[in-house]
Amino acid sequence: MAATIPSLRLPAGIDMPAYGIGTWRMGESPRVRAAEVNALRHGIESGVTLIDTAEMYGDGEAESIVADAVGSGRDRLFIVSKVLPSNASRRGTVAACERSLKRLKTDRIDLYLLHWRGSYSLADTVAAFEELRAAGKIRAWGVSNLDHDDMQELWHVPHGRNCQADQVLYNLTRRGIEFDLLPFCHQHAIPVMAYSPLEQARMLRHRILAEVAKRHGASPAQVALAWLLNQGVIVIPKATNTAHADENLGALDLVLTAADLATLDAAFPPPDAPQPLDML
Ligand SMILES: NC(=O)c1ccc[n+]([C@@H]2O[C@H](COP(=O)([O-])OP(=O)(O)OC[C@H]3O[C@@H](n4cnc5c(N)ncnc54)[C@H](OP(=O)(O)O)[C@@H]3O)[C@@H](O)[C@H]2O)c1
Repeated sequence: MAATIPSLRLPAGIDMPAYGIGTWRMGESPRVRAAEVNALRHGIESGVTLIDTAEMYGDGEAESIVADAVGSGRDRLFIVSKVLPSNASRRGTVAACERSLKRLKTDRIDLYLLHWRGSYSLADTVAAFEELRAAGKIRAWGVSNLDHDDMQELWHVPHGRNCQADQVLYNLTRRGIEFDLLPFCHQHAIPVMAYSPLEQARMLRHRILAEVAKRHGASPAQVALAWLLNQGVIVIPKATNTAHADENLGALDLVLTAADLATLDAAFPPPDAPQPLDML
């Protein structure tokens, strides 16, 4: 049975699923390409409609893998892709988007992000995003790896407040954004997309995660994802292994109790001072 995935509304009025599939490290080896297409297809058949990719992943090959997995089902999906900072000039952003559209075999990207800040001005990248949006090539734009001070700067750029999301490293072991960036995004109704929500599987052996999981007959990965969903952010776990993908979807049915949240807070304390944004 297909999972029921909650959605949230972007400030522009577009609905976006709160749970998706990541694609970093896909497209790097022809040997596992078929398995990667299969993993995405499996996710889509299981009800996942949000796919997160980037021109950087596999040097564009991850976007081609997404296209192969999506096939004729494009209209049911919400596709996120990202422009590299080295391409994020006024004209370079537009050209990069055109290349991504070709690889994705689609006529629009639902949410197009600046992957991280580089040397081009935010004003130039935003102007290009606005041009792409007016042309219907992207439905919305946002940013990634922008910290609280970057977001404040973006807010003073012409049309900068049209930003619809910030995709950042966020999981139980990386809670720094809760001090200032997350409140800023909440205040402006900007959804946060939590990348590496499982800390690339490194956190899954943590004793406390296992303890909370045991209370629910769940897995540590499900607890880690359910905690993020409970924080009101979008999660995009990546899993090429379909058993992992199925397990992760189970997080949508896991409701953490106040006691669980207190246990997790004690083991993974929230920040009590500003911290620079971590990046992977
Ligand atoms: N904007 C950015 O700068 C940025 C940076 C990093 C990531 N991202 C995005 O966020 C997505 C997710 O982050 P991520 O890929 O870095 O890390 P992640 O989703 O935290 O972890 C992925 C790793 O965990 C394993 N895994 C997944 N589910 C598991 C489970 N239930 N049990 C055990 N292992 C499990 C996967 O293995 P298998 O593949 O073998 O199943 C894979 O090795 C990326 O794919 C990408 O789309 C964005």
